Amino acid sequence: MVADNDLAEAASMLAAAGKVAVLTGAGVSKESGLPTFREPQTGLWARYDPQKLASLEGFRHDPHLVWSWYMYRLGLVSQASPNAAHHAIAQLESLVPEVVVLTQNIDGLHQQAGSSRVEELHGSIRRFKCAADCQGAPTVIKLPPEALQSDRAPHCPHCDEFVRPDVVWFGETLPGDVIDRAFTAAATCNVMLVVGTSGVVQPAASLPFVARQYGADVIEVNPQRSEVTRYASIYLQGSAAEVLPALFAALQAQRAGAG
Ligand code: OAD
Repeated sequence: MVADNDLAEAASMLAAAGKVAVLTGAGVSKESGLPTFREPQTGLWARYDPQKLASLEGFRHDPHLVWSWYMYRLGLVSQASPNAAHHAIAQLESLVPEVVVLTQNIDGLHQQAGSSRVEELHGSIRRFKCAADCQGAPTVIKLPPEALQSDRAPHCPHCDEFVRPDVVWFGETLPGDVIDRAFTAAATCNVMLVVGTSGVVQPAASLPFVARQYGADVIEVNPQRSEVTRYASIYLQGSAAEVLPALFAALQAQRAGAG
């Protein structure tokens, strides 16, 4: 349960901010029914081996296994809808002059909720590319619906290499333009709101640290303490779908009071 004074203080920080960066992780989509990665028992990495399923070596070894796992996850994502946290983040744009969402999620739920500026740090499960990027990086491939139902990885129409999801796997670098924009946002924001991430995967995990170094306040929302908690200005302990609407309402009330 978040204390009212913490909520009010976080809302004041947001009310004074010209620019807010929102860093999100799997926890923001949990209340949409999508699993996180590192939670005991329910996390994907508690049940599946990331080296086999989320690395280029794993894909080279068994492209069809990796393809079917991503198609299973795409099925979950396609059935999911944005939750109250995604909506509250999108609504921030009505109260803060500049908002940018930096998400580690590949589910597209921020865009569905209406966030207009979203940097997908780890790519998108809804987009596909040639595994060899034969026409330049990324060689995006449009697939027919039946390919998404298949447990066989499709072939690139240009070069016969396999097609893969346009996501970032372990050992791969993030798209340069995306990471540049993300670090610029971290260095120039007044407040970074960090929601539902364990803060252990680099380089995304450095973003709140950079924001703090450049003088921003860091507000964290997470039911469990994370790697971010120790340098957060305010830690709002609770689930994203509960805390974010409450934070948005507190910000709205402050704005109305000030007006
Ligand atoms: P993790 O699974 O590492 O962390 C999820 C975080 O969400 C944890 O800190 C939970 O306490 C928190 N959480 C759980 N339920 C929540 C809720 N209802 N509201 C808010 N927070 C909640 O997921 P990420 O930090 O996103 O990368 O993981 C980062 C990256 O590691 C992922 O993008 C993925 C993974 O390997 C790649 O696949 C490249």
